[in-house]
Amino acid sequence: MVEDRTHKSLWTMTAPARRYPALQGDLEVDVVVIGGGIAGLTTAYLLKQQGKRVAVVEMHRLLTGQTGQTTAHLTELLDTPYAQLLSDFGEKGARLAAESTRAAIEKIAGLVERLRISCGFQRVPAYRYAETDSEARDLEREMSAARQAGLMCSLTEQVPLPYPVKLALRVEDQAQFHPREYLLALAEGIQGEGSHIFEQTQVTELHDGVPCRVHTPHGTLTCRDVVEATTTPLNRVFLHTKLYAYRTYSVAARLESSLEAGLYYDSRDPYHYIRTQRVEGVDYVIVGGEDHKVGTVEDTERRFEALVDYTKRRFPVREVEYRWSGQVIEPADGLAYIGRNSSSRHVWVATGFSGNGMTFGTLAGMILTDVLLGKQNPYAALYEATRVKPKAGAKDFIQENAEVAFHFVADRLAKPDARHLSEVEPGEGRIVEVEGQKVAVFREEGGAVHAVSPVCTHVGCYVHWNKAERSWDCPCHGSRFSPTGEVLNGPAVKGLPSKKVR
Ligand code: FES
Repeated sequence: MVEDRTHKSLWTMTAPARRYPALQGDLEVDVVVIGGGIAGLTTAYLLKQQGKRVAVVEMHRLLTGQTGQTTAHLTELLDTPYAQLLSDFGEKGARLAAESTRAAIEKIAGLVERLRISCGFQRVPAYRYAETDSEARDLEREMSAARQAGLMCSLTEQVPLPYPVKLALRVEDQAQFHPREYLLALAEGIQGEGSHIFEQTQVTELHDGVPCRVHTPHGTLTCRDVVEATTTPLNRVFLHTKLYAYRTYSVAARLESSLEAGLYYDSRDPYHYIRTQRVEGVDYVIVGGEDHKVGTVEDTERRFEALVDYTKRRFPVREVEYRWSGQVIEPADGLAYIGRNSSSRHVWVATGFSGNGMTFGTLAGMILTDVLLGKQNPYAALYEATRVKPKAGAKDFIQENAEVAFHFVADRLAKPDARHLSEVEPGEGRIVEVEGQKVAVFREEGGAVHAVSPVCTHVGCYVHWNKAERSWDCPCHGSRFSPTGEVLNGPAVKGLPSKKVR
């Protein structure tokens, strides 16, 4: 496999993990959890605490997926404004949304304290701020909606940022932490006494039945229930009409002078998200943003450049030390989908976390643990994965699915990027027409050429090249593949077949 140049996050570089083995042979447990990120590890940890035998199955290494690429904000300020939640889910729904994210933050706080996890957990205020008069007016509306939903919030002009802002919505008692240090500690608590973690074990097929069977290349897991905690569920088509995949970018830079700890969000679209974190005695500012739909921007390097420029102009930093990007899955109606998968008996999903992966990932663990144990959970109905809300997000639903249909047809008919392999520069990927057939070609710096099918193995859209991360990205539902065709992100489970080219 060609070296994966996906940029490494601050978290990945500052908290090395122990290795867990790959599955070798068949095994029976109570619950199989697919995906070793925050939703999967929290679910597995909580279920094991309740006496269940669990197996976590991770395709790569633990916490190298979206949880490794987060900026780890713990906040009740959701990506979907409270004004929107009130209109789409009513006052009861908006209050439950606020209450459930608060419960998730307190669950993390409780585990950090009980297990004495050293992960820099810190209570901080959150600010959503306005830089223009029109943004300020929107904030005033959002403040009254957030209060109606039960948030402890206020409007203020006092925002401890090194540049002027007009107004901010301040929410008390939010939090931040080092997500990897926290979750590596949870992982330690999962392994043993009949429970397992398997890394570098890819699920190739999932059979929903009594019992369920989870097939991998080196063995089959048999269990009563399966939890898909894989950012996007594997190879489902119906659920994917309600999920829209975006790339988002983050940088971390050493602060030259102090910045008050807090979570900060501007009001642009897409918005920037900012926070601080002390790691190994060094204070960093972490800035994220520049989102776009997966597979729709080739020169992704420019997104990083824009973010670095934004960070250097606004904060007391010299150089950016870390940069990384992640995948954000937007749900059609603005709230995560957590619960039984449609037409499934024993398969459960947790997805659509927007930019609130840490809180919704933890909440997913709490809800799924209760429902799998047959207990009532106060938030389960709100987040049901099978829900369809025809009015909420209808415009986005129609537009996003029209775009999928458009890509499916238009990318097939589009002209290739090149007609000769010689047109593909070192380090570049292009769709080339070879002997009447389109192939996705990547040329290594040393000159070696890798050619794979450009047809995504999920439902057949054409992949596009992502320059900064050197990957083939699918614009339809966000699958991503390495230059040599291996799956980096689902929902696809099969790689792009290699093609012979002369
Ligand atoms: Fe669905 Fe590619 S991710 S077709």
